[in-house]
Amino acid sequence: MTTVRDLAATDDDEEITMLTAYDAPTAGIVDDAGVDVILVGDSLGNAVLGYDSTLPVTVEEIRSHTAAVARATDDALVVADMPFLSYGVDESETIEHCGRMLKEADANAVKLESGPHTVEVTERLVDLGIPVMAHLGLTPQRVNQLGGYSRQGTDEESAGELLDLATAHEAAGAFALVLEHVPANVAAQITEALDIPTIGIGAGPDTDGQVLVLNDVFGLSDRTPPFSTQFGDVRAEMEGAVERFRDAVESGEFPADEHSYDEDAIDDLY
Ligand code: KIV
Repeated sequence: MTTVRDLAATDDDEEITMLTAYDAPTAGIVDDAGVDVILVGDSLGNAVLGYDSTLPVTVEEIRSHTAAVARATDDALVVADMPFLSYGVDESETIEHCGRMLKEADANAVKLESGPHTVEVTERLVDLGIPVMAHLGLTPQRVNQLGGYSRQGTDEESAGELLDLATAHEAAGAFALVLEHVPANVAAQITEALDIPTIGIGAGPDTDGQVLVLNDVFGLSDRTPPFSTQFGDVRAEMEGAVERFRDAVESGEFPADEHSYDEDAIDDLY
């Protein structure tokens, strides 16, 4: 079982692997493949629940999907991604929502999309025994404020702010930091400045690990972000299977004799 301490102790020449998963079958596949961390991302909203953004995702949805993932996971660290406005508004509510992920869903840690408002709460959660993964750069829950899903930290001032926030979250006790959609040289410098591991998505090769959304990796997403790569074509496989089923039923090929039986003891019912 991977722990937050194992991640912190990862050697510089070892890459940390992290993928999202949202249900038991795919979590089992990711875990069996030896991926270090499974993130039950709030990308659940787009990837599974059919929302246009992550904003509508609820605490209950993340709790339920995290529990399914945790039931199927033996080795990977399971991290629950806290949804928009479920943290950072009111301290006791934040603690209750994050605590539910560990108490009721068997998560090992939570992830917060971070900013100046999450430094204190990160410290409080860590004090209470809830490990926190921080997340800086593009934080999709701020899409309305950012005006889209654009690259962050692209000038010296904003890159410096990211570095300051990264060190503040490390000091607050975060055990790892996700850096999303930031220039590779900014991610490299933040990684260099921190002792905790950084895990990049669209942040170049010099972070301590990489994370992607599973639907993109599988080849199941409608749109794949420019910094991601499809490592499979699951959509084509699924479409092929569904079409073969439809054709077989329509042609009478399915069900065949071996898929059903007659009960000899039953004669005419009427
Ligand atoms: O929700 C998510 O999938 C994420 C990853 C992209 C890091 O936050």
